[in-house]
Amino acid sequence: MENNTKLIPFNLPMVVGNEAQYLQDVLKNKKLSGDGTFNKKASALIKERTGSLYVTLTPSCTAALEMAYLLIDLQPGDEVILPSFTFTSSATAIVLFGATPVFVDIDQSMNLDIDQVLKAVTAKTKAVCVVHYASTSCDLDLLRARLPKHIYIVEDAAQAIGATYKGRALGSIGELGAYSFHETKNVLCGEGGALLVNHPDLVARAEILKDKGTNRQKFLRGEVDKYTWQDKGSSYLLPELAAAYLLAQLEKQDDINAKRLKLWNLYFAKLNTLASEKTFQLPVIPDHNLQNAHIFYLILANPQMAVNLALHLKKQNIQAVSHYVPLHNSPAGKRFGRTGENLANTEHKAAALIRLPLFYDLSENEIEIISSAVLNFFK
Ligand SMILES: Cc1ncc(COP(=O)(O)O)c(C=O)c1O
Repeated sequence: MENNTKLIPFNLPMVVGNEAQYLQDVLKNKKLSGDGTFNKKASALIKERTGSLYVTLTPSCTAALEMAYLLIDLQPGDEVILPSFTFTSSATAIVLFGATPVFVDIDQSMNLDIDQVLKAVTAKTKAVCVVHYASTSCDLDLLRARLPKHIYIVEDAAQAIGATYKGRALGSIGELGAYSFHETKNVLCGEGGALLVNHPDLVARAEILKDKGTNRQKFLRGEVDKYTWQDKGSSYLLPELAAAYLLAQLEKQDDINAKRLKLWNLYFAKLNTLASEKTFQLPVIPDHNLQNAHIFYLILANPQMAVNLALHLKKQNIQAVSHYVPLHNSPAGKRFGRTGENLANTEHKAAALIRLPLFYDLSENEIEIISSAVLNFFK
């Protein structure tokens, strides 16, 4: 039977405020590169909200992660410990420098298993990359306390804008943090990201590395009369058009996250009655986090049930999707990486997880429709 209901997509990017006006302003200002006023305003806003020492907008979270590893001089022979359950960028940024990603397991909240991290530490460990899945985190104070002091903590906070750990902004806690503003994120500009530099020793070098290894930022501030090549570097600036769109979204960040949280809580209330080990598990939000409702996921009893539920929803024009394919089992993960202990949680949870539609313009009525469709599946 043909289904004539309107498609409920998994995600839809949105316009929330002054995007159109700010894009017009860029055209009027005739400043398109990454040094314009929208870049400055957007990075200043993130800095103010997070308390980070230095924030620079980047073309993506991937680029921010690459810049983070350039900044700490990651070298061939070094190792970085990270969860296997993450996006490829968390690992490609490491491999790009000839270093080895070391994959470990996740816990019940889908974040790094700290015991496994500690067992994976060797004399070669340069950094631990914590990936804040669905804007939740592992116990970052505990991790810092247990890790040898010279090991950097890099936060892959791609999904975590506006979320906190013990009241502190995720992304601002490790020595370095990276946000994503890809169109699938809570706050977006199509493609974009930010690097947060949270250690004073890394700040001065960051502004050189982002600008092709030059002291051009000093030149722009009138501190030197010519700019020259100073260090390693690349081009990590975000074009002004994207920064303008981003500023409009950042200005509405609290509204966006509040609206998403309302929708997330509605899902939780509807589905909580049926959640159990035998049917599905709902997201686990650790007490130390305030989340931003980036993802609403279900973990089914087994992978086949996840496939069947996604098909059941698809027949009703509802797009529900899986998430990361574990990196340690991927062709490149096997080639470039090393795998710690048994990654049982990663293997089970990754295969049995599906994400339900969640985006700013999703209506409460649509949440009702989706939740009912999920509940019917189990009847
Ligand atoms: C954990 C994580 N890190 C990094 C990225 C890459 O972000 P971007 O597309 O901004 O490079 C993603 C993308 O979804 C992600 O989920």
